Amino acid sequence: MLSHDYDYRSILETSHRVNWKLEDVIGGRTFDYSRPFLPDALAGVSKIQCLSSAEKLKLNQIRGFTYLAMFGLVEEYIVPSVIDHVRTGDRGDDREVQALLHFAEEETKHIEMFKWFVREFERGFGSPCGVIGPAAAIAADILDHSPLGVFLTTLQIEWMTQMHYLESVRDTKEGLDPLVCSLLKHHWMEESQHAKLDTLVVDEIARNSTASEIDKGVADYMDIGKLLDGGLQTQVELDLVSLETAIGRQLNDGEKAEIREAQLKAYRWTFLLSGMSHPKFDRSLRELASAGHMRNVEFVRAIA
Ligand SMILES: [Fe+2]
Ligand SMILES: [Fe+2]
Repeated sequence: MLSHDYDYRSILETSHRVNWKLEDVIGGRTFDYSRPFLPDALAGVSKIQCLSSAEKLKLNQIRGFTYLAMFGLVEEYIVPSVIDHVRTGDRGDDREVQALLHFAEEETKHIEMFKWFVREFERGFGSPCGVIGPAAAIAADILDHSPLGVFLTTLQIEWMTQMHYLESVRDTKEGLDPLVCSLLKHHWMEESQHAKLDTLVVDEIARNSTASEIDKGVADYMDIGKLLDGGLQTQVELDLVSLETAIGRQLNDGEKAEIREAQLKAYRWTFLLSGMSHPKFDRSLRELASAGHMRNVEFVRAIA
């Protein structure tokens, strides 16, 4: 149903070849707080008029922190969804089972990695920063949808992770913090296989679904997108408080409005639109359900 040339055997071989340990990512470093953490394409701070350069740097680092913390949050739901998928259906192919379990194991490692980065930031940044949560509640809300809706969300997240690294980080001249760059690179290396695995999983679920079940899956995927969008709006408000604390001054209503608008745009691009509009995700959705694909295009336009 979905056009691709992926297979479990070669994905498993590649994933064993690129596999890394948390120590490889960290390399004995900590954050360099004199540098930005995220490229401006994701952080969206450079055009904010009401902040000084030093204040923009603080906001960029807050956004780097929330990027890591929120990735750690969303990946919590992926592990149980993959384990459930392995448990159901006819899994006669040993390579398929191994590849899927390896996928779940890697996401568990990623969650551990994101938690390490969160703790390290909280130790060194100098002021507290709030993050939406708790992770278990967000995971439960996402998992309260059909498997197709859940795996479409994962597919979107996998493709967007790659876009973040390849288009914003790999060749950047923005002098980003090397530790954050190392994380984004290592995450991308393993997520590249996850995007292929997710395509195979979505394809299998769709092949075993009726047209109305597929429609329900796409509707669920969009519901999860709206759920995540609500989380992003809450996160923008938390960031305003974190920023005031970090820069040691109260922002007036006009300043808050300017920052809120820029940041909601940047968050939506980072966590929703960069995945939703990724050519490979877009193609999969179009092949799956043309009417659902059109509804998603409208949703993308509405929040862009
Ligand atoms: Fe991951
Ligand atoms: Fe992943």
